[in-house]
Amino acid sequence: MENSTDSSTNQSGRPTGAPEEHSSGDAVAASERQRELIVGVSHDLRGRLGSLQLVATALADGILEPDLEREYLKQMPVHVGALVALVEDLFELSRLEAGDPRSAMHPVDMHAVVRKTVEGMQMEAGMEGVTLTVDVPPGTTLASGSAGKLERVLRNLIENALHHTPRCGTVDVVVRATADSIEVDVTDTGTGITELDRDEVFEPFVRGTGASPTGGTGLGLTVCRAIVEAHGGRIWLAETGEGTRVRFSLPQSE
Ligand SMILES: Nc1ncnc2c1ncn2[C@@H]1O[C@H](COP(=O)(O)OP(=O)(O)O)[C@@H](O)[C@H]1O
Ligand SMILES: [Mg+2]
Repeated sequence: MENSTDSSTNQSGRPTGAPEEHSSGDAVAASERQRELIVGVSHDLRGRLGSLQLVATALADGILEPDLEREYLKQMPVHVGALVALVEDLFELSRLEAGDPRSAMHPVDMHAVVRKTVEGMQMEAGMEGVTLTVDVPPGTTLASGSAGKLERVLRNLIENALHHTPRCGTVDVVVRATADSIEVDVTDTGTGITELDRDEVFEPFVRGTGASPTGGTGLGLTVCRAIVEAHGGRIWLAETGEGTRVRFSLPQSE
């Protein structure tokens, strides 16, 4: 049962949507976050490269039983895929941190972004045996930013929801326009996020107690938060009776 309330700060306690860090205290906090990120990256790389090295060495030795050899061969692309995903997420984070000049702000029809992303993930949901629904009001609501990056936020949230929802569960994506903002909820009927993890899940390399250690990069929600904040919005865990509800809100474009 999740019972956190909506708040105007993000999960790290920083005000969401705060564009720049000016004071020296903020600079220290930013440099501490960078340091923690590097520690996390190093730890993660060491673990994944270590596994890859073990598998590659065993294969190169040529002394494995055929069944085990097949198993090890299957593991290699999984480890490599995880490394590629990690590097992609890190690139995204550093581009956002640097204020990527390619990501100019354009009007983005959020209704279309949500519909397209959900449609593109129906097959994945089907394979997981989970019903994926979308509820978008008629008309259009514009945000300002990059459609590709906002799509990425939704993909990450829906992937997480599918991953943590057992077969026959549901994942519902709901869009709501308020007077000056647009809110998107991704709600699932899955395992939920324990109290222990709730305050931390948006931080880099935090994987909840129920996550498989080889699963995602642990940067998914960090990337979501960085993208949403770069769009002047905020993202948080909202209240829901069962499972998990992640909500993000973006200012409406004039
Ligand atoms: N919908 C969800 N249901 C349950 N747990 C979730 C959900 N979304 C995220 N989490 C928890 O938050 C952690 C961090 O998520 P994320 O940053 O996407 O990293 P990753 O998916 O790579 O583990 C996950 O490991 C998981 O424990
Ligand atoms: Mg994830």
